[in-house]
Amino acid sequence: MPSSVAREREPVFWLMMTGSLRTEVRTHCHLEMLARRHIDEVVRIHLQSFPSFFLSFLGSRFLREFYSSFLVDPTGVGYVVIDDDGKVVGAVVGPVDPRGYFQRLLKHRWWAFCVASIGAVLRRPTIIPRLWQALFYRGESPGGAGRALLSSIAVAPAAQGCGAGRLLVQAWLAEAWRRGASGAYLTTDTEANEAVNRFYCGLGWALETSYVTREGRRMNRYIFDFPPLPKNSG
Ligand SMILES: CC(C)(COP(=O)(O)OP(=O)(O)OC[C@H]1O[C@@H](n2cnc3c(N)ncnc32)[C@H](O)[C@@H]1OP(=O)(O)O)[C@@H](O)C(=O)NCCC(=O)NCCS
Repeated sequence: MPSSVAREREPVFWLMMTGSLRTEVRTHCHLEMLARRHIDEVVRIHLQSFPSFFLSFLGSRFLREFYSSFLVDPTGVGYVVIDDDGKVVGAVVGPVDPRGYFQRLLKHRWWAFCVASIGAVLRRPTIIPRLWQALFYRGESPGGAGRALLSSIAVAPAAQGCGAGRLLVQAWLAEAWRRGASGAYLTTDTEANEAVNRFYCGLGWALETSYVTREGRRMNRYIFDFPPLPKNSG
């Protein structure tokens, strides 16, 4: 997106967020763009926040590849929240262009993900189809072109409820919008996941649909629409 358009978009974004935008965190934390030096801590938080999830089962090496892919891909967007001691307490990642991101991942990094998941496959060979899906399935994307995908967000258990999650989502949305996305989407479990569903609803995401995965997992898909560009923005 040309920078003149990005500038045009800025006031619209803040207007859109009026009423829900809060930039402070209720502890002393600040936001930074995801960088290579954060990856190990982000992986640790992921493992703490999603103890029994499939990506955690694949292990820290796999997760390192996963989070690093958002640094390498030109459409990757990632942020971390850092506390007073300089420790990462939360992270969000996702591509502005999910289709391009997954195509590039498949083309350039498939081998790195294979190597990173060898341990998990040896422990449980039946995971191979699920592994493929975890890697290259971007969730059914909603209708309408140009939506960014919020792939993962996690806040360390001890730091949850302090505003870090809100800050991460809003920063990620603002950057996706700045880079020209028309909106965003994400998927999350429907069942036994009320707090997370309430979290997204409270941040202005709208439940678009629910569906059941091949493994029988009931999922909710949320969308967030950005306002159209002002007419004079070109
Ligand atoms: C979901 C998650 C990212 C939220 O981050 P967080 O830092 O705890 O959330 P925040 O403190 O920024 O809360 C933001 C808003 O959501 C609400 N919220 C957060 N957790 C909530 C809960 N358990 N129940 C109800 N509301 C909740 C807060 O009340 C807050 O609203 P407010 O700002 O109007 O007070 C975090 O809890 C987490 O990492 N969970 C485990 C991993 C996970 O499930 N990730 C999402 C997968 S799709």
